Amino acid sequence: MRLLKLLLKLTVVLGSLWMLYLMSHPKTDLDPTYSLRYSWLEYTDADGGPEKVCNCTAIMQGVREALKQAKLLTITKDFRKNVRIPDEHYINATRDCRKFKLTRKYLTFPLSQEEEDFPLAYSMVVHHKVQNFERLLRAIYAPQNIYCIHVDEQSQASVFSAISAITSCFPNVYMVSQRATGKAKKPPPFNLPILSGNAYIVVSRGYVRSVLEDNRILALMEWAKDTFSPDEFLWATIQRIPGVPGSTWPNRKHDMTDINAIARLVKWQWHEGSQGSLEAVYPECHGKHVRSICVYGAGDLQWLLEHHHLFANKFDTDTDPIALYCLEKYLRQKALAELQP
Ligand SMILES: *[C@@H]1O[C@H](CO)[C@@H](O)[C@H](O)[C@H]1NC(C)=O
Ligand SMILES: *[C@@H]1O[C@H](CO)[C@@H](O)[C@H](O)[C@H]1NC(C)=O
Repeated sequence: MRLLKLLLKLTVVLGSLWMLYLMSHPKTDLDPTYSLRYSWLEYTDADGGPEKVCNCTAIMQGVREALKQAKLLTITKDFRKNVRIPDEHYINATRDCRKFKLTRKYLTFPLSQEEEDFPLAYSMVVHHKVQNFERLLRAIYAPQNIYCIHVDEQSQASVFSAISAITSCFPNVYMVSQRATGKAKKPPPFNLPILSGNAYIVVSRGYVRSVLEDNRILALMEWAKDTFSPDEFLWATIQRIPGVPGSTWPNRKHDMTDINAIARLVKWQWHEGSQGSLEAVYPECHGKHVRSICVYGAGDLQWLLEHHHLFANKFDTDTDPIALYCLEKYLRQKALAELQP
């Protein structure tokens, strides 16, 4: 419960270049007597695609046979073809928003008074792969929150239309488009030291207020407008500006590694290895690496759930749809199990 309270005290601002996943609910044993009233919101095999032949319970427990079976399935041609959902599907499926939300089992009410009283704001960046976006949105969606979706201007027209169709079904999901140019830069304003850090952040309301109102930050953002990847230094720089709520001194000693931060859990290829080795931080990736980051496979789930992070990246239905499917089922069941009867 402590983690959930902490989460509720924060406004969440997250960039999502790829699939991120909510793991916000604290670990508790599932109560088999949980409120049957909401059992219709559980994801069942009937909602699933071809992934439903997998035994998710065994997969989450890391049972070798189940993982082997899942792996085999993910490399089967027919299976890969069948799990794919074209962008056009979302345009059709959202013609009837009510039906779309119902069949996709979106939450249409806050899960607790506490959550209702503490709405969160999310910021997501999307380039492609609408299915990943829709599944992430469904995982983090609650009617009391606000979602700001930035679709890359260079995205395909079908991505734009599909995301626009999905967002039009929700009054609290907004879509904006993004720009990236290149000119010679003047030095940053106020001699602010430019520091790098995580593009995926969880911050308080006070921090957001500073971003919107503090003159130093407004000038910094104006300066950063035409830089290539502002998210990789902007938040980290603001995080070290004196007086910003939640800020720390710019000394390295305050820096936190991915593994200790709560915003996202990530496996960098060069930190992977076997247990007991002094160099390795975590076990090897069971999915595949994209730009040295692990795109998780079903075999990573057990390890993921042993950690305290709110999000993990990356997931991709093109790499391992079973990992996503089992995690979705597990998280929804857990969220519902915590409802007061
Ligand atoms: C799925 O796996 C669990 C745990 O290994 C096992 O208890 C259960 O019987 C399995 N279910 C099916 C349908 O095989
Ligand atoms: C379009 O959506 C409707 C219901 O929303 C569904 O019955 C129909 O099968 C869909 N058509 C296609 C081609 O996906």
